[in-house]
Amino acid sequence: MANVTALLILRHFYPEDIAEIKRLENQAFTVGPYSRRMLRKIFSSPGAFNVIAEEEKKIMGYAVAMPMEQGVFDIESIAVHPDSQKKGIGAILLFEIEKQMKQRGGKISILEVRDKNESAIKFYKDHGYEITGHLDNYYSLKHNESRGAYRMAKNL
Ligand SMILES: CC(C)(COP(=O)(O)OP(=O)(O)OC[C@H]1O[C@@H](n2cnc3c(N)ncnc32)[C@H](O)[C@@H]1OP(=O)(O)O)[C@@H](O)C(=O)NCCC(=O)NCCS
Repeated sequence: MANVTALLILRHFYPEDIAEIKRLENQAFTVGPYSRRMLRKIFSSPGAFNVIAEEEKKIMGYAVAMPMEQGVFDIESIAVHPDSQKKGIGAILLFEIEKQMKQRGGKISILEVRDKNESAIKFYKDHGYEITGHLDNYYSLKHNESRGAYRMAKNL
């Protein structure tokens, strides 16, 4: 972990990052990656905030979140480049985006995750999230015969 954090730079998103983030998105999400337009919309939504993880001037991961009701924030997306997964970058991004939520008065972090995305569900559970519900037709694309998502939440 030490050699990863030593090289990793955390910074905010710039509009010119969008092409590189779209490439990362396509590689990280084998099903249903966000379109470039959707990514641009999420990153520039009112109140949205983000963190970008960069290593040797290459974007290795990102997280972006949005305000919901008072004290509640939703993680819209979090992704790490497949070549850089399982090195702790996801945990760092999650920690940083939750820190930004708390700085904005956040009490609860929520997210939606494909119900067949077992590795991501485990990742979130390992970081204190619990499943609070199931959304049957959350996604427009089927994956493993499901369009469903779990909603997960954590008290910050
Ligand atoms: C989910 C995701 C963001 C996690 O990112 P990540 O950088 O791999 O996360 P971490 O490295 O912090 O943790 C992942 C695993 O690596 C392990 N790990 C972390 N540092 C490690 C190290 N130095 N050496 C060995 N293993 C390590 C963690 O313990 C964890 O293990 P587990 O899977 O057995 O529980 C990433 O897998 C991803 O981008 N997935 C595709 C997109 C996606 O599904 N996003 C979520 C949609 S809601």
